[in-house]
Amino acid sequence: MCGCCCRRLLFHCCWTLAVCLSVWMDSAHGIGVQLIPQNPVVNQSVTLSVTGVTVTIRQFSWYKGSSVDTNNQIFNVIPQTNSVTHGRQYFSRASHFPNGSLQISGLVPTDQGNYTVLIQTIETSAQHTVLLTVYEPVTSSVISTNNKEPQENGKVTLTCSTNNAEKILWSKNGVSLPPGLSLSADNKTLTFSSVSRSDTGQYRCEASNAVSKTISDPYTLTVNYGPENLRIKGGTQQVTSGNPISLECSADSVPAPTYLWKLNWTVLEFQNNKLNIQQATSENAGNYTCIVTNSVTKLSQEISIYVTVNENDPNNNPIGTGHIVGIAIAIILVLALVTALIFLLGIRRHHSSSKKDTKSTENGHTSAQGIEMDEAALQYSSIDFSAQRGLQRNEHVVPPPDNTVYAEVRHK
Ligand SMILES: *[C@@H]1O[C@H](CO)[C@@H](O)[C@H](O)[C@H]1NC(C)=O
Ligand SMILES: *[C@@H]1O[C@H](CO)[C@@H](O)[C@H](O)[C@H]1NC(C)=O
Repeated sequence: MCGCCCRRLLFHCCWTLAVCLSVWMDSAHGIGVQLIPQNPVVNQSVTLSVTGVTVTIRQFSWYKGSSVDTNNQIFNVIPQTNSVTHGRQYFSRASHFPNGSLQISGLVPTDQGNYTVLIQTIETSAQHTVLLTVYEPVTSSVISTNNKEPQENGKVTLTCSTNNAEKILWSKNGVSLPPGLSLSADNKTLTFSSVSRSDTGQYRCEASNAVSKTISDPYTLTVNYGPENLRIKGGTQQVTSGNPISLECSADSVPAPTYLWKLNWTVLEFQNNKLNIQQATSENAGNYTCIVTNSVTKLSQEISIYVTVNENDPNNNPIGTGHIVGIAIAIILVLALVTALIFLLGIRRHHSSSKKDTKSTENGHTSAQGIEMDEAALQYSSIDFSAQRGLQRNEHVVPPPDNTVYAEVRHK
């Protein structure tokens, strides 16, 4: 019993001595461990391949951890006899090759850590520690947001949800992010403290590590604003009766706004941005108002336009001018008629005066009577003319020349 203990103690001492020696020899002999593959992935295998061994290996041991400690031993192998001693850290997925290498199959995340190999050759012994990193593929990346219907100047965060990523990159519309955006330390969260319409676009996040990369589906950030900059296009503000009225209202707005039309505060049936009346009548005249509403911002704006409907006119003249011309023509005709009458009476009177001058001695009474009658008729005409035209020139018993009267009336 005691002998056994002593033997084990001795063995332990010798082994520890060898380890101390090996640490000293390590740099001299320069053994190394290479991971195959370089970036091992969970569920797959890795070989911790010992390099730099130039002479025959007498025995080797693998340890889980960075020290050569019996408690950490996975196994000890003597290649010549193919004898294997399992240590405390032995596990069935671990296997060895005669050249000193360790293979771990079916990697699990907890396999990650430091591994140390101790190699004994005929000449000397050496050890080397290597860090095994077990990679897990990055899970698919998904962008989520705190604000599904952001309005301009609101706060928006986009979060890239993914696991096992070592690096996260963002892109907007297929190119790297414009400057001035704020990313969290782990790059998972993109923050717009005051979002603007120019931030609208398609965002993606790309999550990667040494063994895999995933790109998220695009997330379309739509910044809602408006309505603003209202305008009415093609606004024919003067329409002749029977012709169409066609108005088109538009505004800058995201999302597309709803439209409501009113004529003098009466709601019309048109529900899009276009108003069309095939044949306008005087009832269609009035103040047209287009009311634009954004369902997200809950803002409304309105714009008005006054539409005049003129009565039908063959010359397509506006109604006012047509009436004025008609009235003017009627006045001129009446005036011409009256003037012609006065002129004719004037000629008659002149003829009578001439006869009186030459034949007064002969038939004075009759002539005088004729003049009185003429003058009475002339005065009546003059009064009638003044009443009709509103002239205050009754004192002119004899009318002025034709063109003078006409000019006076025209100037009136
Ligand atoms: C040791 O043997 C294994 C299995 O044959 C091989 O994959 C590995 O490359 C070898 N290592 C060296 C350094 O030759
Ligand atoms: C591996 O060993 C190095 C150096 O001894 C140490 O800094 C590191 O923390 C160890 N890593 C693990 C996962 O044990």
